[in-house]
Amino acid sequence: MQVVDTATGPLPKPDAASLAHSHRVADYIRARIEVAGGRIGFAEYMQHALYASGLGYYCAGARKFGEAGDFVTAPEASPLFAKVLANQVVAVLEQIEAPIDRNILEFGAGSGSLAIGLLKRLEILGSLPERYFILDVSADLRQRQAAAIGAALPRYLGNVIWLSALPESFSGVVIANEVLDALPVERFLKSGQRTYRRSVAVEGNGFVWKTEIAPKLLRRAVKDIESGIGYQLPEGYESEISLGLAAWIFDLAASMTQGFVFLLDYGISQREYYAPDRSSGWLRCHFRHYAHSNPLIYPGIQDLTAWVNFTEVANAAFDGGLQVAGYLSQAQFLLHGGAQQELSEVSELPTAARIQLLQEVKLLMMPGEMGEHFKCLGLSKGNIVAPECFGLADRSHTL
Ligand SMILES: C[S@@+](CC[C@H](N)C(=O)[O-])C[C@H]1O[C@@H](n2cnc3c(N)ncnc32)[C@H](O)[C@@H]1O
Repeated sequence: MQVVDTATGPLPKPDAASLAHSHRVADYIRARIEVAGGRIGFAEYMQHALYASGLGYYCAGARKFGEAGDFVTAPEASPLFAKVLANQVVAVLEQIEAPIDRNILEFGAGSGSLAIGLLKRLEILGSLPERYFILDVSADLRQRQAAAIGAALPRYLGNVIWLSALPESFSGVVIANEVLDALPVERFLKSGQRTYRRSVAVEGNGFVWKTEIAPKLLRRAVKDIESGIGYQLPEGYESEISLGLAAWIFDLAASMTQGFVFLLDYGISQREYYAPDRSSGWLRCHFRHYAHSNPLIYPGIQDLTAWVNFTEVANAAFDGGLQVAGYLSQAQFLLHGGAQQELSEVSELPTAARIQLLQEVKLLMMPGEMGEHFKCLGLSKGNIVAPECFGLADRSHTL
């Protein structure tokens, strides 16, 4: 997701309706904190702020994606993203013998724009999947996806199936763009060689951070990180960890019989994630295209995300029986996945369209934009050869 970064600048003011909604979300979280005895872990706060039924950021009606929302994701930014991904999807689907097994499962489909872009392209390539499954935790977004896909591709709508849980057995292509970064994270603090959990309590009308001895699971997870990176995190070090990430990957791996997984997100290796000088973590908040680092304000009307530790994802995938096929920057993924061919006719476009396309390419591929911060991790199961791009610029040895 792409935003203006103004750590020091003032945030825009929410309008009255958004503010009223945020107060309702805050009331809800305050009640949960009261029930829990005065404080809740940050992961629970994030879960409520993003996913409380009918209230959370992803589960109420506000517009999140695109210029009128809070951020822009790659498929929202340019159709080029879906076109290149479609090339990779075809390379996988062609390897699956039975047509009935040539399916796509997209996690967290957001506004539905990636599904629409992919399906349009796959139709042109003569490779439409048998079924397109969508698994999204947000009932509000599921409705919007159905409306958008129904309007763009009415003839295919009958083949799109919204799931409420993973299928018992899935064969085909799995896609998750900017979903792992939306999983709740715990925030921890190292002090006096101990691990503490940062929790959230009520103060006045707002929320404040508290610090408490970390529960066993979190202590163990931080210990595992320290043995993975080979040193103890320094005094005062704060960062995040998603305790649900490994289980998410295990469940996915267990449900797959044959296929390939594309996980696209902004993230890095574990060594980079927990580098000693990165002592304030990777949590980011997005509000009206501004990025900042205070998750305790505007609950329910700002996005909360944390970069992904791709080493943890790859290890969990391997333990769950998936093969790590490759790990690329988004720029390399697009470049080696066919962006050049997609751009070959750029000089023939009218000037305005050419400028627009070049701006989109810059956003998707430049190192300072989405090109380097975003990665694509490819995972395979059941004798599927990875699409060629993974062999051309793989850096999975860095994980
Ligand atoms: C940042 S948005 C990305 C949307 C879209 N993939 C895109 O790239 O534009 C995150 C999406 O993931 C969904 N989501 C969050 N947690 C999820 C989970 N555990 N399983 C499935 N979807 C989830 C949200 O409801 C939302 O649709």
